[in-house]
Amino acid sequence: MAQVVTIAVLFSGKGTNLQNLIERFHLKRFGDKSVKIVPVTNRPEAEGIDRARALGVESIVIDHRAYESRESFDAELVKTLKMINADLVVMAGFMRIVTEVFTSQIEAINLHPSLLPLFKGANAVKESFQSGMRVGGVTVHKVDSTLDGGEILDQTCVRIERNDTLESYEARIHEAEYEILPHCIAKILNLHE
Ligand code: GAR
Repeated sequence: MAQVVTIAVLFSGKGTNLQNLIERFHLKRFGDKSVKIVPVTNRPEAEGIDRARALGVESIVIDHRAYESRESFDAELVKTLKMINADLVVMAGFMRIVTEVFTSQIEAINLHPSLLPLFKGANAVKESFQSGMRVGGVTVHKVDSTLDGGEILDQTCVRIERNDTLESYEARIHEAEYEILPHCIAKILNLHE
């Protein structure tokens, strides 16, 4: 019998990274392990819900607007993640700042579209692109109670070419994300084909 490894993926919007993770891992066999992805979103209108559904995976929705504080939303999220009994919690486009209610109980990793510690926050791609630097990139880091400040696990560079537009640069950022995040997850969970 294969050991089932469960990955909870938190997302808020388009969910292209979620889709990539489902395509790479869900119901796939890695040696004596098989992987289950459980998507969780804070937005009922998130496009990623349909992307996952098209691949046969239902998302858990916890609408943050139904909670009166960040802490009460985080408490519900923690309860859900404990129920799922996830081996790893991955934030992939999860556009929420989490409180200590979350960080004191859940170990998670986050995907961020810049070379941290540069360009923290929600506008990292645009700020990198406009910075005048000729290189940006992608980071995977541990989640702690600081904004995008946890221990860096892996990074990759993406060049910013002189003829790039924000859109062409962002497309390459996504391509880099679709490689670095599965690579990091496979390393953490010891998943080898
Ligand atoms: C990704 O580029 C991810 O790095 C970024 O949101 C995008 C989500 O895309 N995350 C952050 O900016 C977190 N601060 P997706 O929904 O298509 O996967």
